[in-house]
Amino acid sequence: MIKAVLFDLDGVIVSTDHCHYRAWKRMADEEGIYFDEKINDRLRGVSRMASLDIVLERATRTYGDDEKKKLADRKNGYYRELISELTPADVLPGAMENLNKLKRNGVLVAVGSSSKNTPIILKQIGLADFFDAVSDGNNITRSKPDPEVFLSAAKMLGVSPADCLVVEDADAGIEAGRAGGMKTLSVKGAKGADYAAADLSAFDIYERIIR
Ligand code: G6P
Ligand code: MG
Repeated sequence: MIKAVLFDLDGVIVSTDHCHYRAWKRMADEEGIYFDEKINDRLRGVSRMASLDIVLERATRTYGDDEKKKLADRKNGYYRELISELTPADVLPGAMENLNKLKRNGVLVAVGSSSKNTPIILKQIGLADFFDAVSDGNNITRSKPDPEVFLSAAKMLGVSPADCLVVEDADAGIEAGRAGGMKTLSVKGAKGADYAAADLSAFDIYERIIR
């Protein structure tokens, strides 16, 4: 029985993916590195430094560890500028309806995100105190597709992984949920999930999966 739903943040609760794209694009352009939306798709659910390694696949020279740290910091600065503009209106369609319905019916809700910016984003969109647990890039050492972020969310909630449903927009996130022994719901075409929805606006998680 599903007792908890673990939501990815970027691309599921709030559309920060275009902010990530713009920040990486700005940094890549400055460095003369080719970057496009297709490469950006590969960064979904992937930690900041692992994302940088993917961006640098197109670089014409190699970067040392110190330089890489600086590039990641620069991108994060650009990203922070963009997410400082986020408001509750940026919560994706259907997300609040689903979150409220789950809560009303006694289902626990948590965030499971690779992002170290999760606390800032939750504050911006007015959900800093909403979730029963928040597991993010600040409390894990291995990013998706490793299940660590979701397993630690389940642990915080005191719910066994088999009683959790993971909601994800990234292939790496679905893989992480499955590796953790959880049920999975994909949005926006993420592959390999038990259930799929185009997005959360026309999908009632409680009625369709849990009840
Ligand atoms: C999310 C996004 C990724 C991003 C990662 C780290 O999982 O989908 O694209 O790279 O978070 O984000 P951060 O905010 O820590 O740089
Ligand atoms: Mg995502």
